Amino acid sequence: MGSVVEIRHAVVRHNLSIARDRNSTTSQFKSALSRLSDVLACETTRSLAGTPLERTAGFEIMQSVGLVPILRAGLALVESHVSLLPFSKVFHLGMYRDEETALPVSYYNKLAESTPVETALILDPMLATGGSATAAIDALRTWGVTTIKLGCLIAAPEGIAAVKQFDSDVDITVCMIDQHLDANQFIRPGLGDAGDRYFGTT
Ligand code: PRP
Repeated sequence: MGSVVEIRHAVVRHNLSIARDRNSTTSQFKSALSRLSDVLACETTRSLAGTPLERTAGFEIMQSVGLVPILRAGLALVESHVSLLPFSKVFHLGMYRDEETALPVSYYNKLAESTPVETALILDPMLATGGSATAAIDALRTWGVTTIKLGCLIAAPEGIAAVKQFDSDVDITVCMIDQHLDANQFIRPGLGDAGDRYFGTT
């Protein structure tokens, strides 16, 4: 059974407040997401499997690790994770949520051309209904990944439940679990459309 970890660090709370503020500029929003991503990366990488090295009693991360950002907003979390895991590969999945149905629409998949990694870490700032995350998990299982982790900045309880129902083995790490989804399937209190705000396309 995979774990669910909520970080709730002071740096998380400080920067989530900036991200939630509708008056924050694109620059302020990007900076806040970068700090949140730094904290998230420390936690998502906490329990990667490694091998103790006898003579030095050291530890080496032995698994092949693939970072899997869900475009577009997932790109905001890549830099922090690559910084901690410079040996990781990055496999992009393109998906957007249909505004009427709230279902994910896939438009890009970079997985099939390579050998599956042992551990895949899905990166997306937002876990709302869980539709995008479960579609990504489905694609990764089909590709042949055995260990899947999911890292998000905020999540609705409904999205966590949906991912767990789809695949209970996935480890979920979130900076903060928000209150609920509203009638339009948006996270409340949320932080708006992370992709549009991060890339200044609102
Ligand atoms: C947002 C978000 C997730 C998805 C979450 O992407 O970044 O990918 O919606 O919703 P779900 O859990 O209900 O699937 P969006 O469609 O806004 O695309 P974007 O990142 O390109 O802005």
